[in-house]
Amino acid sequence: MRNDVRVELGARAYEVRIGTGLLSQAGAQIAPLLRRPRVAVITDETVGALHLEALRAGLGEIEMVSLSLPAGEGTKSWPHLERACEWLLAEKVERKDIVVAFGGGVIGDLVGFAAAILRRGVRFVQIPTTLLAQVDSSVGGKTGINVTAGKNLIGAFHQPSLVLADIDLLGTLEPRDFLAGYGEVVKYGLLGDADFFDWLEAMGPALASGDTAARLRAVTRSVEMKAEIVARDETEEGDRALLNLGHTFCHALEAATGYGERLLHGEGVAIGCALAFELSQRLGLCSQEAPSRVRAHLKAMGTKVDLADIPGDLPDADGLIELMAQDKKVLDGKMRFILARGIGQAFVTSDVPREVLRGVLVDALAARRS
Ligand code: GLY
Repeated sequence: MRNDVRVELGARAYEVRIGTGLLSQAGAQIAPLLRRPRVAVITDETVGALHLEALRAGLGEIEMVSLSLPAGEGTKSWPHLERACEWLLAEKVERKDIVVAFGGGVIGDLVGFAAAILRRGVRFVQIPTTLLAQVDSSVGGKTGINVTAGKNLIGAFHQPSLVLADIDLLGTLEPRDFLAGYGEVVKYGLLGDADFFDWLEAMGPALASGDTAARLRAVTRSVEMKAEIVARDETEEGDRALLNLGHTFCHALEAATGYGERLLHGEGVAIGCALAFELSQRLGLCSQEAPSRVRAHLKAMGTKVDLADIPGDLPDADGLIELMAQDKKVLDGKMRFILARGIGQAFVTSDVPREVLRGVLVDALAARRS
């Protein structure tokens, strides 16, 4: 079972191959890109323990050298970037070699950035192992690290040469991590494909319980939508911002909760999508039915959907707005929001009166106390 999606970027076009058993075919998939039969793989300790030997076997005749970094968001940092680059140089990775990012979003972003700056740019292959990485972060070439001033503030656009999304790898995810990735899947339906959202409402439980055909279809549709948007707007001058539906709220909540276990990124996206639809409804852009359906589906899936689902204290509404104003999408000092005229009809705007935004947050915070 396999679907291929092409990201049409001219000389930098590449394929995202989505299917089962791809790890065991990694050698055949990657070999056409190689000048010599050798790859440098960077992974994290969790993925390494579970899947590195399977990747080695899948690479067959291709020699594999590997580095395992600690798992977790803390790895997307200067010290681990330095470690990755120094290791790649020590392994004598050359300009024409291929580096493999084997892991979730943290590894994909870090290793992609290391590849972007190593010897002024080497090619890399993404083998994403989480749902979030398969449907979002491995596609589109955003790479980077977090710094004291904020998330992803140091980075580069560097497109992979190939993405291998092996659906089987999703089978070892913790349910919470799977559901966090599901927040990003729902995002695609909400931003641009109402039929896909209808399908997710029906098939979400099958997806969560491991239905391979449903997982293949959900990842493929998500990647198709991302590929199409990235091909139109690689460096986020316009439409690519649609992929950030729910993210302005999400980034504020992640900053407030310390980018850790209290709130995973995909959980913040799910909550952020629900808030973006609530805000859209209060602005008269969409009917009450839309935010109700969004919340009902996310709740039915068992993912976080309300601010009440976040443990511990949160800032007040003004504090959250302050954090939202740090978002990378701020342009000419104005916050930009992705709002919706209905399910599947998102658009970008700066035209959000502060009082309406504040009202949404005040009510969402009040629901935590009731
Ligand atoms: N994750 C949003 C983007 O790739 O643009």
